[in-house]
This record gives sequence, structure tokens and C-alpha cells, in this order.
Amino acid sequence: MTIIVTGGAGFIGSNFIFHMLEHHPEYRIVCLDKLTYAGNLSTLKDVMDRPGFRFVRADICDREAVFRLFEEEKPDMVVNFAAESHVDRSIEDPEVFLRTNILGTAVLMDACRKYGITRYHQVSTDEVYGDLPLDRPDLLFTEETPIHTSSPYSASKASADLLVMAYHRTYGLPCTISRCSNNYGPYHFPEKLIPLMIANALNDKPLPVYGEGKNVRDWLYVEDHCRAIDLILHKGRVGEVYNIGGHNEMANIDIVKLICRELGKPESLITHVTDRKGHDMRYAIDPAKIHRELGWLPETKFADGIRRTIRWYLEHRDWWEEIVSGEYQHYYEKMYGNRGTV
Ligand code: NAD
Ligand code: DAU
Repeated sequence: MTIIVTGGAGFIGSNFIFHMLEHHPEYRIVCLDKLTYAGNLSTLKDVMDRPGFRFVRADICDREAVFRLFEEEKPDMVVNFAAESHVDRSIEDPEVFLRTNILGTAVLMDACRKYGITRYHQVSTDEVYGDLPLDRPDLLFTEETPIHTSSPYSASKASADLLVMAYHRTYGLPCTISRCSNNYGPYHFPEKLIPLMIANALNDKPLPVYGEGKNVRDWLYVEDHCRAIDLILHKGRVGEVYNIGGHNEMANIDIVKLICRELGKPESLITHVTDRKGHDMRYAIDPAKIHRELGWLPETKFADGIRRTIRWYLEHRDWWEEIVSGEYQHYYEKMYGNRGTV
């Protein structure tokens, strides 16, 4: 079994590679990654020389490079994590999101059509469903919830999902799609809420909460997401969408206060800054289908997962300090430098 994992030098893709190498040591895993600002080769250093693992630096939009890799590897499956993934960046500059997230998906599926695969899996997001109101806790996203996007990022991911379903119907490509809620855990790039707050708190820097911080996300430990994708690849039904979520809704402000408590830092570091444009209020996944059909349930309680995550950032300062000391500085200044306080 050979699986091409795209975006495997990023947060979830790398965790998925570790999961697959541990649970399916007989598989060949080929990581295809462009190494954008979000891809980090040092994340994969422990598996780089492992037999059965190969890393290839390439852009999923580069048709020639992708087809060449398929020619060489003749993969059985493709799992597509490669994407521009940060909502704030998509608001600043949507174009690369359209290119990678939509056109890149099409190139990968064209290669799958040409060389033949048993499964193409698209890693999508709950953001394709838009948002839910705070005062209706009874409402959850199901697989039947209409697509209703808010940001250029979520619109690009929804476009890719539509394209995947079209390739399945038109060409009979054996596809599945998973739509997961917010992940957290090791190797999470420090532009995202949880790792950004941990890194800033450790450096006694302000903790920039957008608006009042009442927005709710449904947090899932990354290993639980990886286990769900593994199950979908092996037991999921072709042509189906599976929602993945932790039944773990939390307001941003409560997460930031929790991080302060865990690190022994004062809440006075919290700074309320100008809100994100078009900011989605609440995400909440109903994972009943994947539970019913594949027996999946989240295993990591948030209280344990967040402690494990904080410990990981404390023990891997080299990993994130290298990131925040480089190009990230310019990003941070651009995104937060002129952001007014509220
Ligand atoms: P990430 O930004 O940490 O990693 C993305 C990876 O893709 C990086 O290694 C980057 O180098 C690579 N990449 C980007 N453009 C590429 C291109 N053109 N060609 C090849 N490689 C390219 O992202 P993540 O948080 O790990 O998310 C992975 C996937 O999961 C994305 O598709 C995202 O939409 C989806 N997702 C993320 C979350 C979350 O909470 N992080 C939740 C649900 C779904
Ligand atoms: O729901 C799944 C999605 O989760 C994925 O598809 C995306 O790839 C992933 O980035 C994530 O999107 P969010 O926008 O929810 O994540 P982010 O970490 O950027 O923000 C989480 C919440 O925290 C959101 O309400 C905005 C807020 N926030 C974020 C940052 C970076 C702040 O208050 N301050 C910040 O500095």
C-alpha cells in the first residue's frame, strides 16, 4: 500500500504521517509538500530516513511534478492536506488560497484519474458550513447542512469539496471528504489561536483576543482527527462526507484564560483587539455519522489534550522559536501592529 500524503510538513499532515507510520508500518508513505511558510522539514526529521517514507518537495499545482511523482510511485491512495489554511491570511490576500486549495485539488485528482487509485481523500473543514448563532446550542453542523461560507479561505475549501464531488460523479473517482472542527496539538503553527497564545504568554507578550472573545470553536486533539481519517480510508464509503468533531465547544476567551492559568501568567496580558472581518461566531460539529458507521469517537479530553499540548510547546521551544524569530516577525507586525485595541 502506497499513500501520497500532501501537506505532510504542516500541522495535521505531519501528525497523520506519524500516526500512519506507527499504526501501519508496512505502508509506504510519500509526503508531497511545497514547504510554504507553514511547512517545516524539521517536523519530519525523525522519520526522514525511515524505510517506507519518502519526502518530495513539490507544489500540488505543478501538474508536471505531480504526474511525475504518480508515475514513479503508482500510489494506491492520496490524502490531500495541502492547503493555505489561515483565515486571516485569506482576508489579506485571497489569490493563493484559490490557486492551492482549488486548482491544486484538481491537479491531484487529474493525476488520480490518469494513474488510477483506490481512494482520493480530501481533508476539508467545518468552516464550509458557515457559522451558528451563540444562542442556539441545539444547532450543530451535520453533513446535510448547506454550504454557506464566510471567508475566502472557507470559500476555497468549499469550492474544492464541490470539485471532489463532481469528479466522483462525473469520472467515478473513488473519493471521500472529511470536514473537521478546529484541531490543536503538537506542531501547530504559531499563527493560530492556541499556539500563538502559548508562545506569546511564554514570552510575556500581549495576548491579542479578537473582539470580546466570545466566538466559539469545537476543539479536537489532532491525533483524534488522524485516527478518524485512517478509519475513513479503510472503512468509509466512497462518495460520502464525514463530519469530525470533539463535542468540545469553548469560547476563545476561556481558552486564553486557561492557557494563562496553566502557564502561571497574569490575565492582564490579555488585550482585546479589533475583530476579524466577517468573523464566524460559532462552529459545532455533529459527528453522529462517523460514530454510527465507523465507530469513531474522540478519545482525548480537552483538559488532558491542552496540558499535553502546552507541555509539548515547553519541551520544543527550538521548534517554534525558530519560526517566530524569522519571517513570522513581519507577518506578526503586519497583522497585529496596526490592529487597534477595543
Ligand atoms: P498547515 O497550514 O499547518 O499546513 C499546510 C501544509 O501544506 C504545509 O506543510 C504547506 O507547506 C503545505 N502546502 C501549502 N501549499 C502547498 C502547495 N501548493 N503544494 C504543496 N504543499 C503545500 O495546515 P493544517 O492546519 O495542518 O491543515 C491541513 C488541512 O486540514 C488543510 O487542508 C486545512 O484546510 C484542513 N483543516 C485544518 C483544521 C485545523 O484546525 N488546522 C481543521 C479542519 C481542517
Ligand atoms: O474550524 C476548522 C478551521 O479551524 C480550519 O479549517 C482552519 O484551517 C484553522 O485555521 C481554524 O480556523 P479558525 O479561524 O477557527 O482558527 P484560528 O486559530 O485562526 O482562530 C480561532 C479563533 O480564535 C477564531 O475565533 C479567531 C480567534 N483568534 C485567532 C487569532 C489568531 C483570536 O482571537 N486572536 C488571534 O490572534
